[in-house]
This record gives sequence, C-alpha cells and structure tokens, in this order.
Amino acid sequence: MLHPWIAQRTTTFDSSGIRKVFDLAAQMKDPINLSIGQPDFDVPEPVRQACIDAIQSRKNSYALTQGMPVLREKLQQQVDAEFGHADRKVFVSSGTSGGLVLTMLSLVNPGDEVIIFDPFFVMYQPLVSLVGGTAVLIDTYPDFRIDLNRVAEAITPRTKLILLNSPANPTGATATAAEIEGLAKLAAERNVALLSDEIYRAFCYDEPFLSPAKFNDQTIVIDGFSKSHAMTGWRLGFVHGPAAVIDTMVKLQQYTFVCAPQPVQWAGAVAMDVDVSGYVEQYRKKRDLIYEEQVEQLFHRFAEHPGYRLTVDLESLTIADAFGLQLAFHVDDFRRHCLRNGLDDIALTLQHEDKITAYEAAREQA
Ligand SMILES: Cc1ncc(COP(=O)(O)O)c(C=O)c1O
Repeated sequence: MLHPWIAQRTTTFDSSGIRKVFDLAAQMKDPINLSIGQPDFDVPEPVRQACIDAIQSRKNSYALTQGMPVLREKLQQQVDAEFGHADRKVFVSSGTSGGLVLTMLSLVNPGDEVIIFDPFFVMYQPLVSLVGGTAVLIDTYPDFRIDLNRVAEAITPRTKLILLNSPANPTGATATAAEIEGLAKLAAERNVALLSDEIYRAFCYDEPFLSPAKFNDQTIVIDGFSKSHAMTGWRLGFVHGPAAVIDTMVKLQQYTFVCAPQPVQWAGAVAMDVDVSGYVEQYRKKRDLIYEEQVEQLFHRFAEHPGYRLTVDLESLTIADAFGLQLAFHVDDFRRHCLRNGLDDIALTLQHEDKITAYEAAREQA
C-alpha cells in the first residue's frame, strides 16, 4: 500500500529490477559489478589540483546558474568550432543526468511520446514517466542497429522527442554514420526534437565520433565529464542546443539544481585541456581483449619467446618457463584479471616480461 504522503508520479516506475540483479549477484562467486559506469582510472592529477586551487582561493560560493564564464565560454567556443550553428547555446548542468532531467522537464508534456532505443540507460524510461510522458521503445536486438523505417513508423502526432545515445550504455554499440544522419534528418523532417546523449563520445574506438547535430542544427546535446575524466562524483555536465530550449532549461535549473558546484567548474575548464587518449586506448584494448581470438593472441605472445612453453586448451592456460616455474590459469580468471586491473597492471604480463629479460640476459652470458 502506498504511504499516504507519497506522490502518485513516483509510482509509475520502480527499482525492483535493479534490486533483483543485486540479489542475483550476491549469490554468484566473484561477480564483476558493471552496473554503474565508474571509470577504472582516477580524475587526472591537473584536474584534481585545479579543484583544490579553486577551493583554496575561495571560489566556493554559488556559481552562475548557466555556468561560470571560465568553463561556459570555453565550452561555447568548442561547440561553435565543431558545429558553427548561429543559434547553438551552451550551459553547464549538474551532471549529464541534470541535463537529462531538465530536457524532459522543458520539452515533454503529459501524454507526449518519447522514442527510446531498447536496451537503454536506466534513467531514460523513469524520467519520461516522471514528467507524464510515454516511452515508446524500439527494440534493437540482437545487433543493436537502428532501423530508420521502424523509427519513421513509430512517430505519431504525439511524438515529442527521440533519444539517441551513441556510443550506447549498456551495449557499447556505436550508431553508424548512415544511422546518425538518417535519424537526424528524419527528426528534422517530422519536426520532432532529437536529444543526443554524448557522454561516451570520447570512447569511439573504430571510427571518429559523429554527432547528429552535424545534420540537424536543432539537436539538443547532453554531455559531461563523468566518463571521459572519471569525474563521476563531481557532478559536472553541459548541454547545448537551440537558444530558446537552453534558456528554458537554465530557468528550470535555477529552481532545481541551482548550479553545478563552482570549484568543480574551474577544474572542468582545466579538464578540457587534459589529453585523455591514454585512458581511451586502455579501454579500447580491454574491449579487444574480450574477443576470444584477441585473448588467444595475448596468450600466444608468451609462446613467441624462447624458453617458454605454453599450453592453451578451452578452459585453461599453462605457462612453463625456463626456470622451472609453472603457472596455470583458468581462461576466465585471466580475462577477469585483465578487465579488472587494466592492461598496464597485469601482474602476469609484467612478471613474464621481467623473466623474458632475465632469460635473455642469462642466455647472453652463457
Ligand atoms: C548514457 C548515460 N547518460 C548519462 C549518464 C549520467 O552521467 P552523469 O554522471 O554525468 O550524470 C550516464 C551515467 O552512467 C550514462 O551512462
């Protein structure tokens, strides 16, 4: 029974699915928690230092609602350079989630439909329900491709918004250039708003990132520093789109989140100049690693060195070295270790690289 104080709007969604998964995981041996997108690297040092400096120099008051000039103007320059749209305006939000909430509040009327590609980021559907909208799900299983004909068929007179997330959470799928261009043009033709969640844009491994805003100047883009700079706890995001939409969101931010934390905004301006390509490369390598043959290639590196005998079967990997040491791994344990610790940190690799050097030195002396 609903507690008499609880508002009706909170009852249109629940979090029982998430609880079920946690209960299930509690019964598993050594599960890996991929439920929240927490990067496995820390906030880069210059960014941490910039935040400390901002705090120490007393930049601790409320920020301007639309964002501190130090960050907002830098973001505006970056957006202008990328898109060159006369009417594209930026504001700083309280995380990408803040941008998402404000988009829904600003655009979706009760009864409006919002098209979402399934599977989707956990917040999308509850937020549509919260503002009284109806989520219209388009199934993208099993290959997570966007079928433009199905999108065209799903658009009705009630459709207000299409939500695109590429690269996508939770699948990691990146929409093709044809899908992005097609969707952008379809939204423009049918006069439907297009929201592009670009929080993972830094993580395009096989082709450069492409925004639908390139093809549709009315696209609303939400983005942030949580994933690219591991700033998940700092709550820093930004939104850009047509000025009238952005002004409405800023008006609503004033009465909800108020502003993104001021010291974090100073640090965000520094973060924009930090090269994150090393982290991206680490993720790419781990992505590659989970492909079976890629894992095997890694295993075979050891076999290429003299003094190593390597045996791999479907389940286990055994490495015997010239010094009589024998190591055996379950293939899944090895893969799990690689995913958890990052490639630079794989004890096995380092251990064996040391041994390779030692072995080669010993051979030279003999
Ligand atoms: C697709 C997507 N959008 C938005 C967010 C929210 O990010 P933020 O931490 O900036 O609020 C996440 C976080 O996991 C996400 O995966």
